[in-house]
Amino acid sequence: MAAWAGKPVLGIETSCDETAAAVLSADGAVLGEALLSQQDHAAYGGVVPEIAARAHLAHLPAMIGQAMRAAGVGVGELGAVAATVGPGLIGGLIVGSGVGRGMAIGAGVPFVAINHLEAHALSVRLPGLGLDVAFPYCLLLVSGGHTLCAAVEGVGRYRTLGTTIDDAVGEAFDKAAKLLGLGWPGGPALERLAAAGRATVPLPRPMLGRTGCDFSFSGLKTAVARAVAGGAAPADVAASFQAAAAEVLADRAAAALRMVEGATALVVAGGVAANAAVRGALARVGARMVAPPARLCGDNAVMVAWAAIERLRAGVAEGDTAPRPRWGLASERV
Ligand code: KG4
Ligand code: ZN
Repeated sequence: MAAWAGKPVLGIETSCDETAAAVLSADGAVLGEALLSQQDHAAYGGVVPEIAARAHLAHLPAMIGQAMRAAGVGVGELGAVAATVGPGLIGGLIVGSGVGRGMAIGAGVPFVAINHLEAHALSVRLPGLGLDVAFPYCLLLVSGGHTLCAAVEGVGRYRTLGTTIDDAVGEAFDKAAKLLGLGWPGGPALERLAAAGRATVPLPRPMLGRTGCDFSFSGLKTAVARAVAGGAAPADVAASFQAAAAEVLADRAAAALRMVEGATALVVAGGVAANAAVRGALARVGARMVAPPARLCGDNAVMVAWAAIERLRAGVAEGDTAPRPRWGLASERV
C-alpha cells in the first residue's frame, strides 16, 4: 500500500443516520463536504437500523460525488480515504467502510479506519476553526449514543474517565421531548420549547457531587414523565429538564477536569454540545471551555477526515479496519 503523500483526504461518516462525505487538504482545510440527515426515521420516533443502512447505500455515492466535485478533486488526486468503522449501527458501518476501502484500493492509497468517538474528540483541533487546542485536554462527549468524559493526551492516546451508567444524555433529551409531544430528534425541539419556559419544576440532579465522573439520566427521564402527567406546563418542564441536564453535565465535567493533569481546556463535542444552556453551564466550570461550531457538533464527515489526517501525520494507524458496532475510545494502542 502506498504511503500518504500529503495529498487530500476523503472522509466518510455513516455510523448512525447522517450520510456524509468531506474532502480535506493535507493541512486540514475543508475543500468540499456533503451531508444528508436521513429523514426516513421521523415516523418511527427513532433511528431504524435497517432503514438507515439502506439509505446510506442509496445516498453515499451521491454525497461522495458532491463533496469531491465541490473540492475539485478527482479520485486519482486523493492521498487517503478514511471512514468511520465503529462504534455505531453495523449496517451503515459496513456500507461506509466498504465503499471507503474499495475507493482506497482503487486509488492505490491508504485506507484509514476511524473511531467515531475519536473523530468527535479531535474535531476541535481542525485548523480552520482557529481554536488552537493542544494536548492534553479534558473531553466531554455528549451525543445521542454516548456520554463520556475522557483525557485526550495525544492522537490515539485516550483515557476514558467516566461514562453514563444508563441512558446517553442525547437519548434523555430525545425521550423527554417525546414525553412533551415534540418531534424527533427531540434535542433541538426541546431547546426551542425551553426558551419559552421557566425552570420551576423540581427535577433530580442524578450523580451530582458523586466521586468520579459517571453519569445517569434514566431517573431524570422518569421525573419528566411524572411532571408531564402531573400537568406541569410543557415549556416549564422543558426548561427544567434542560437546566437539570446542564447542571449535571457541568458537575461531572468539573470532576473529570480535576483528573486530567495539565489540561489545556475542557472540550465539549457531540450533538448535545449544540445546546446553548449546556454550553453556558460548562463555560461556568472555570476552565477554558471549547466547543466546535454547531454544524461540527453533530455527526459529519469533516471530523472523520480530520481524525485521519491527525493519524497520518502522527504515523498512528489503527491496525484492525473491520467495522464493529461496539468500540470504546480507549481500547488501545500506542
Ligand atoms: O452526535 P450526534 O449527532 O449523533 C450521535 O452520535 O448520537 O448527536 C445526536 C443527539 C440527539 O440525541 C439530539 O437530540 C441531540 O444530539 N441534540 C441536542 C441538540 N441538538 C442535537 N440536544 C440538546 N440540544 C440541542 N440543541
Ligand atoms: Zn456522533
